[in-house]
Amino acid sequence: MVNIQKTAIIGCGFVGSTIAYTLLQRGTFSEMVLIDADTKKAEGEAMDINHGLPFVHAMDIYAGDYDDIKDAALVIITAGANQKPGETRLDLVQKNTKILRSIIHDIKAAKCEGILLIVSNPVDILTCVALKESGFPKERVIGSGTVLDTARLKYLLGEHLKVDSRSVHAFIIGEHGDSELAVWSTANISGIDIGHFSELRGSTSEEHVWEAIYQDVRDSAYEIIERKGATYYGIGIAVARIAECIIRDSHAVLPISVFLSGQYGLQGLCLSIPTVVGQNGAEQVLEIELDAKERQKLIESAEEIRKTLSQIV
Ligand code: NAD
Ligand code: LAC
Repeated sequence: MVNIQKTAIIGCGFVGSTIAYTLLQRGTFSEMVLIDADTKKAEGEAMDINHGLPFVHAMDIYAGDYDDIKDAALVIITAGANQKPGETRLDLVQKNTKILRSIIHDIKAAKCEGILLIVSNPVDILTCVALKESGFPKERVIGSGTVLDTARLKYLLGEHLKVDSRSVHAFIIGEHGDSELAVWSTANISGIDIGHFSELRGSTSEEHVWEAIYQDVRDSAYEIIERKGATYYGIGIAVARIAECIIRDSHAVLPISVFLSGQYGLQGLCLSIPTVVGQNGAEQVLEIELDAKERQKLIESAEEIRKTLSQIV
């Protein structure tokens, strides 16, 4: 029986510790266990984060091990190498697959019944690996996917159109990586077609403007890693949002990484698609309207993922 108020974070580096800190601030759970191959690191993070407790909601936060995760409703996996400047996410595949396999082995041994949320890169590939190795139902194994990239798109469009990014409705889908694509055909600002909204705001809306914004989104992580070595705040809050949708059973639509079984003519792999997210994980993978160019780009993105999947040793 899972405890809906309990989460576990495996991997307490930049990303894992930022997620823990964000979850503390948002009061999403009442119990949070931190696990890392470097036990001292997990202990140090738990100690440090605990010292914020007098200012927020009550929460039991501790460094633990796999015995502690049996009843966790959500297990967030951020363990593994991050990109060095110039590396792609796909370059991490062999070393992070090896790490993930050993983690999934321990999760299975702990008889965990919660949802697995993969954040480590390359996230779509690792979500597939976690699904296969765990034998869990596909609804219970998801990746953070392009939730972060979609947030980057909303932010940049908000800046360009001088509008609150929360009024922007648009998706990045496909691989969380270099082959991802923006779904421009249905992008809108609170229901107003994005081209029309641009005109209303006196902004430029030619094709090259949208293309430049897409490229900025796609290359954001490279730009940040080149400057500060890693990305963690954006993903921290994106993961907290996914966690809340699960724990509060909110049925929100998020572009998480999910296993496809025929949608868009694709199957046998994970990539990011708008999905209804609730207490059971990926409730429904949505087949949204795409124009011919977007459909083609999605197929090409899936081919990239398939190619990398076939190279895993
Ligand atoms: P980091 O090096 O700071 O932290 C990784 C942590 O994993 C370390 O503390 C390490 O001890 C731990 N670890 C390694 N092997 C382990 C094992 N077997 N069990 C438990 N812990 C283990 O790296 P980071 O910057 O936190 O990045 C972590 C991962 O998250 C990377 O793969 C990175 O690419 C990815 N990431 C994904 C997104 C996304 O949008 N999906 C965003 C940012 C980073
Ligand atoms: C990101 C990571 C590196 O910030 O995947 O997009």
